[in-house]
Amino acid sequence: MARTPDKTSSRTKQGKPRPAATKRAANSMWGGRFAAGPAAIMTEINASIGFDRRLYRQDIAGSQAHCRMLVKQGLISAAEGKKIAAGLETILREIEAGKLRIDPKLEDIHMHVEARLAELIGEPAGRLHTARSRNDQVATDFRLWVRDAIDRMDAGLAALQAVLLARAEEYAATVMPGFTHLQAAQPVTFGHHLMAYVEMTGRDRSRLQDARVRLNENPLGAAALAGTSLPIDRHMTAKDLGFAAPMANSLDAVSDRDFALEFLSAMAICAVHLSRLAEEIVIWTSAQFRFVTLSDAFTTGSSIMPQKRNPDAAELVRGKVGRVIGDLNALLITMKGLPLAYGKDMQEDKEPVFDAVDSLELCVAACAGMIGDLRANAPVLQAAAGEGYTTATDLADWCVRKLNMPFRNAHHVAGRIVRLAESQDKPLEALTLAEMQTVEPRITRDIFAVLGVANSVKSRVSYGGTAPANVKKQVARWRARLAKEPR
Ligand code: ARG
Repeated sequence: MARTPDKTSSRTKQGKPRPAATKRAANSMWGGRFAAGPAAIMTEINASIGFDRRLYRQDIAGSQAHCRMLVKQGLISAAEGKKIAAGLETILREIEAGKLRIDPKLEDIHMHVEARLAELIGEPAGRLHTARSRNDQVATDFRLWVRDAIDRMDAGLAALQAVLLARAEEYAATVMPGFTHLQAAQPVTFGHHLMAYVEMTGRDRSRLQDARVRLNENPLGAAALAGTSLPIDRHMTAKDLGFAAPMANSLDAVSDRDFALEFLSAMAICAVHLSRLAEEIVIWTSAQFRFVTLSDAFTTGSSIMPQKRNPDAAELVRGKVGRVIGDLNALLITMKGLPLAYGKDMQEDKEPVFDAVDSLELCVAACAGMIGDLRANAPVLQAAAGEGYTTATDLADWCVRKLNMPFRNAHHVAGRIVRLAESQDKPLEALTLAEMQTVEPRITRDIFAVLGVANSVKSRVSYGGTAPANVKKQVARWRARLAKEPR
């Protein structure tokens, strides 16, 4: 394979030193140790500003807290602290106004902020990095960012739960077929089905809260990896930034990323839940099912087939779970086998988290939108609920209750009656009493009460069962629980 001349090598093909390399200016942050600047490719592979600019708010908040602590500890003067604080305020406003001047040579958000601070206030800017390293700085920023993202995610999931609750209440008594193996199994209510997702998203939220508790410790002050000889107060910055405590081991503080892995895991599980809901919506909206209709707002048409109404939003929710799981995998693989403490590999931690958050936030909102707008097709659901002999278990339960039969025998009786109905191509309730009595002579007329789907669901009042009365109770329980949450 022909090779193009290697512009980044320090030597030419003839082995002579490449003069251009020495002409590059050394980095202003560590220029003392370096005679020459980096190759263009080095700058490119090293730069994270393209994505870690999203940490600017957390970076500035962390610097403000660090600055207050340095003043209190007498490590910088009050006047210097004031200048730094004001400069950081200005930078925050500038970035918020879209005025961050990107320079890949400044690598990341931390150096962009510091360089701008130096432009704005001069010498005191150089004192902000006292007793701090970018290693503890980035760990702090990222924890703060993830903490905010968890809070946003939680609010989005709470909103989805509120929508599910409203629809579940509306459809508390609407019967539909419940499936196992995607074969009609027993009638359930649509409200009960929706409430299953309230439970799932409830667990998703609690997983996020668990992760939040564990991540809420402060790495700041761990410095590069070993702590510092300067008299800092890590408890002060922890409190200032809303952390429960400083992290106890400086090596762990700069090298741990399990807060991000845990967040990604919780998001991956949540995305899996949403993909199941999405898949159900895709199935339910098909012409073969017609269980529900999505609104125009959450469907698209086809450029060639005029009749089409495609559930694209649901398909994309189903599709995006692949990215979120991939993001979790990417970071697990990045972290696997990394020696302590910080390694530049860890700069790769942010993009998967950002991507997963962006994807999942969209999915949660799209699910809330679809569920809020969809219409259940009650007559179709009612008819489908009774198809496939879904009340055969009710028949067996009746024999247990009324005839005191062991369930295994009752199962056998019900099975034979289903076979009889099937041979005549009829539903169970179309059989005559006499026909049923050919299988079990003790069966009486009141058996017909349990064969209808409405009665079937009404009878399932065991705790957690599908009865409309249960659904209403669960809706009320969740409403009360959501109302108690601090907002
Ligand atoms: N941009 C870096 C990151 O995200 C910041 C930490 C750099 N630390 C270092 N020792 N070069 O990981």
